[in-house]
Amino acid sequence: MDCVYKNPNEPIEARVKDLLSRMSLKEKIGQMTQIERRVATPSAITDFSIGSMLSCGGSGPFENAMASDWAEMVDGFQKSALESRLGIPLIYGIDAVHGNNSVYGSTIFPHNIGLGATRDADLAQRIGAATALEVRASGIHYTFAPCVAVCRDPRWGRFYESYSEDTEIVRKMSSIVSGLQGQPPQEHQHGYPFVAGRNKVIACAKHFVGDGGTERGKNEGNTILSYEELERIHMTPYLDCISQGVSTIMVSYSSWNGRKLHSHHYLITEILKEKLGFKGIVISDWMGIDKLIEPRGSEYRNCIKSAVNAGIDMVMVPYRFQLLIEELTSLVESEEVPIARIDDAVERILRVKFASGVFESPLSDRSLLDIVGCKQHREVAREAVRKSLVLLENRKHQSKPFLPLNRKAKRILVAGSHADDLGYQCGGWTKNWQGSGGRITIGTTLLDAIQETVGDETEIIYEKSPSKETLERDDISFAIVAVGEKPYAEKFGDNSTLEIPFNGSSIISSIADKFPTLVILISGRPLVLEPWLLEKINALVAAWLPGTEAQGITDVIFGDHNFTGQLPVTWFRRVEDLDQLANGVKLHDPLFPLGFGLTYAEE
Ligand code: GLC
Repeated sequence: MDCVYKNPNEPIEARVKDLLSRMSLKEKIGQMTQIERRVATPSAITDFSIGSMLSCGGSGPFENAMASDWAEMVDGFQKSALESRLGIPLIYGIDAVHGNNSVYGSTIFPHNIGLGATRDADLAQRIGAATALEVRASGIHYTFAPCVAVCRDPRWGRFYESYSEDTEIVRKMSSIVSGLQGQPPQEHQHGYPFVAGRNKVIACAKHFVGDGGTERGKNEGNTILSYEELERIHMTPYLDCISQGVSTIMVSYSSWNGRKLHSHHYLITEILKEKLGFKGIVISDWMGIDKLIEPRGSEYRNCIKSAVNAGIDMVMVPYRFQLLIEELTSLVESEEVPIARIDDAVERILRVKFASGVFESPLSDRSLLDIVGCKQHREVAREAVRKSLVLLENRKHQSKPFLPLNRKAKRILVAGSHADDLGYQCGGWTKNWQGSGGRITIGTTLLDAIQETVGDETEIIYEKSPSKETLERDDISFAIVAVGEKPYAEKFGDNSTLEIPFNGSSIISSIADKFPTLVILISGRPLVLEPWLLEKINALVAAWLPGTEAQGITDVIFGDHNFTGQLPVTWFRRVEDLDQLANGVKLHDPLFPLGFGLTYAEE
């Protein structure tokens, strides 16, 4: 007679109870351990009954590995897990935060800040569904998404990972969870994890809580708010994720009123688990336990004790897992960490694994491989790009609004650092953690899209930084200048000057002095726009970080579609104004207010 936990017809809670009762302390702590692929060995996975693995940004089988190569790799690790005494499958996680962005050839969707400009919950859900398919095609079960931060200060290096400064917009876009995991049935029990089978993934709402509200936007900094404001501004989106059956929630590196979230028993256990009724996995962030005390990793035993006792169920170690297992085992044996806390953590982990179906389908489904980067998904991404664009300025030229552009114009100058760079379009968390420039994957740059859109008679001159001769020509109909930020992630994106990089402003100035000019800004956040710049140019579009489908931009600037995007964040007038943002206050006298966005009907 097969044991209860192996029987998919048994209720999940019965399977959890049965399996837990069979586990040794070593196996329980092994399940609480998540390790990075570079330190994983078949024997460690099997002997320790490792519960989870991850690839940090870009940590794959090899450079430009395809989904099939990833599936081969993940299946290999999984087979080692299945050889453990109780055969508990592992769940493999990755930051698929705007498509399956580490895997070559995947569809790369606009980053969250652009999706926030769409305010389209249905689109978010469709993006989630497409992402889930491309993630599962690569053998991966789990994505550390969505980030439901409410970003309050553009100086924050993770501003673009947030949908908006407005809590209600973030709540609306959290619908991506039911795209990623599937829509729970009406009778689904509140707080329980839900994953609708092998075409869906385990999702992760992050980073709990207040990561987007730190002082001066400092990454991993301190959020100073009353509990009521913390709950109203930053915690509400978690209610929406939990009501959609989100399976995991990742704890923030940041602090609330000086207390680090990773050891915050009140917020993790009393609020998230007890008051909000969350029954899935609370996972630490990468080395989140090591970072509890500076220097990082010191007093590790005490940090493990406070983090696990605070309510963290799974530890994204990700490297020193033997030490974690040793210390946590010792803490349980000395009763500094109650076995009841371990059992709660393991119950949650097993609950998510049973709910996700990974016991029944532990290995990849190679029939999904053709779906990676498929036309349908790229069409969804193209639609998202269209809807994410925000028209900030559209002056009259020759007695009519400058946009839409004439696709039959005689000669168009295309210029700027971001006109022909797929990597810049995608931003951070693409191909690798920080992102990079160049033709990093399969996709369409703005220049590619312009070339595909204009008439056969139209000549395109492309110069990243136009020469003196070009600037002296008198036969150019108009210029399209794409400038913006280079890719970055996390603390490497913290920035207190927010100028347009790569001399963007001076390139704009030199071109706009000579020709009617459209400026397209490719950035993860509002940047400084000098008054003279707005005077000189004819039109300005905020395109955020659009990803691989830049035809979405030409669809709109050449008039096949209208602008519908609205600012998901306030556009500051001067960078000095940002210091007003302390304690949750909003900017007064902005350059462009939250919600601003012109259409072709307005000038
Ligand atoms: C990072 C990020 C988190 C990510 C994790 C794994 O440091 O804070 O968002 O999911 O580590 O890459």
